[in-house]
Amino acid sequence: MNVLVIGASRGIGLEFVRQYRAAGEGVWATARSEEGLAVLRTLGASAIALDVASAESASRLGWQIEGLHFDTVIVCAGVFGPRTSGLQPPSEAEFDAVMHTNVLGPMRVIPQLADALAPGAKLAVLSSRMGALGARTSTSGWLYRASKAAVNSVLKDASIALAGRAVCVSFHPGWVQTDMGGTGAELPVQDSVADMRRVLSGLASTDNGRFLNHDGSTIDW
Ligand SMILES: NC(=O)c1ccc[n+]([C@@H]2O[C@H](COP(=O)([O-])OP(=O)(O)OC[C@H]3O[C@@H](n4cnc5c(N)ncnc54)[C@H](OP(=O)(O)O)[C@@H]3O)[C@@H](O)[C@H]2O)c1
Repeated sequence: MNVLVIGASRGIGLEFVRQYRAAGEGVWATARSEEGLAVLRTLGASAIALDVASAESASRLGWQIEGLHFDTVIVCAGVFGPRTSGLQPPSEAEFDAVMHTNVLGPMRVIPQLADALAPGAKLAVLSSRMGALGARTSTSGWLYRASKAAVNSVLKDASIALAGRAVCVSFHPGWVQTDMGGTGAELPVQDSVADMRRVLSGLASTDNGRFLNHDGSTIDW
């Protein structure tokens, strides 16, 4: 199986690379720093330089993966942005950094993947339960929440455009012990990724366009 992990220098993306390599899969993975690329090579992945917030960098992805076909693609790159609790307006720079990474990034990357998807491929975007509107009771990190609600819309459109060719899902990975989640988070990164790998391997065409918790249960948009 061929796997592509977008945003894999650390955290959840890096753990996907570790686990898929340990399972003997062919892994292509992206990082935006030399240091991150070196870590990926050490794990036996084919490393691709990519900054999803840069139009110029993102435009190179298509030819970097030309001729390859992926059975599973996971878009992990993301930033949290300002850790607000109420309705503090973000600066324009904060807004741009979060939206360009979490929303514009997938909107740039996903179209370039269309020709590189193996028949019946699985395409997952790491969203967050914080983006869900229905069950919301907190306003913490409202810029991040807005970005994840927006990327859910992006994923839904991708699922419609790629229907019949790929199964596209939006994932909440859990509250995970990474730089973003912090040491007090609920889930070890190994467990979150093991859960999502299991869910990905069992996805059927009827799952296309769903918003899933890491354990496979449905999350209300
Ligand atoms: N951890 C949680 O509890 C949690 C919960 C819900 C959802 N998520 C989502 O899961 C995903 C991964 O989170 P994480 O916990 O692994 O975060 P993390 O430990 O902070 O890692 C973030 C990753 O995204 C990459 N990235 C950031 N900006 C990028 C850009 N412009 N281009 C390419 N890569 C970029 C980082 O690369 P650099 O090393 O170059 O910065 C790093 O590899 C994110 O989308 C996050 O929103 C996480």
